[in-house]
Amino acid sequence: MAGGFPKRSSRSARPDALSGRVPRLDSSPAQLALAPDERLELYAGAFLLRGFALPDEARLRADVAVVSAAAPFRHMQTPGGFRMSVAMTNCGSLGWVSDPGGYRYSELDPDTGRSWPALPHAFASLALRAAAAAGFLEFEPDACLVNRYEPGARLTLHQDKDERDFAQPIVSVSLGVPAVFLFGGLKRKERPLRLMLMHGDVVVFGGPSRLRYHGVAPLKPAQHPFAGQHRINLTLRRAS
Ligand code: SIN
Ligand code: FE2
Repeated sequence: MAGGFPKRSSRSARPDALSGRVPRLDSSPAQLALAPDERLELYAGAFLLRGFALPDEARLRADVAVVSAAAPFRHMQTPGGFRMSVAMTNCGSLGWVSDPGGYRYSELDPDTGRSWPALPHAFASLALRAAAAAGFLEFEPDACLVNRYEPGARLTLHQDKDERDFAQPIVSVSLGVPAVFLFGGLKRKERPLRLMLMHGDVVVFGGPSRLRYHGVAPLKPAQHPFAGQHRINLTLRRAS
C-alpha cells in the first residue's frame, strides 16, 4: 500500500483554547520540522498528511489531464454574480456547481450537457488511503471537485455543506505551487490557522471538524514542475 504511514506518528497543533492563541503553522518551527510522511493533527478530526500523495503524482497528473480534457476548467459564477478566480471542474457521479441560481451538486456538466468524467481510480484509491490514515475507515467518495489556482486566485472562507452526509470526511489533495490554506472554526469569525500546503500534501477533515470554515489565500506567483504557475487541488467528497 503506497503512501501509508508505518510509524503513525502524530502531533497536535490545536489552538490553545484558553488563551485564544493560534499558532501560525506556515511559519512555526514545528511545522518546518515536520518530516515527510508525518501526520499532524490540526484539530480533532482534522489531519495534515505531509507528502502523502507524492508517490502518486505521475498518475494524478495524467488523470487531471484526462478529466480536464473531457470537462474543461471554467470560472463559475457566484450566486451574487461574481466570476470566481479559481477555475473548476469535476469528476465522479456528481459535480459541484455554482451559478446565479446558487450552489448545488449536479449529475451533468452544465457546460457540456454530459455526465462528468468518471472518478479516476488513482483519485479514489488515494482518498481512501488518506481517509483511513486519518481514522475514517468507511469513506466512499462519489464526487471530486478539481480546483485550479492561477497567481492571485483565492477562495474565501466557506463551509462544505452541500453534501448529504456529514459523517463522511473531506479529503483535499494539494498539487503544484504551494498555497496558504486558511483553516478556521465552526463560525466564520473565528481566526483561521494559516497552513502552508505543499505539493503532495493531503488534508483530511471530518468528524467534529467536518464543517470548519476554510479557504485559500491569494496564490503567490511561483513555478512548479507539476503544473507550471498553477496550484491544483482535488477535494474528494461523498455528495449523495
Ligand atoms: C475547497 O475548499 O474546495 C478547496 C480548498 C483548497 O483548494 O485547498
Ligand atoms: Fe471547501
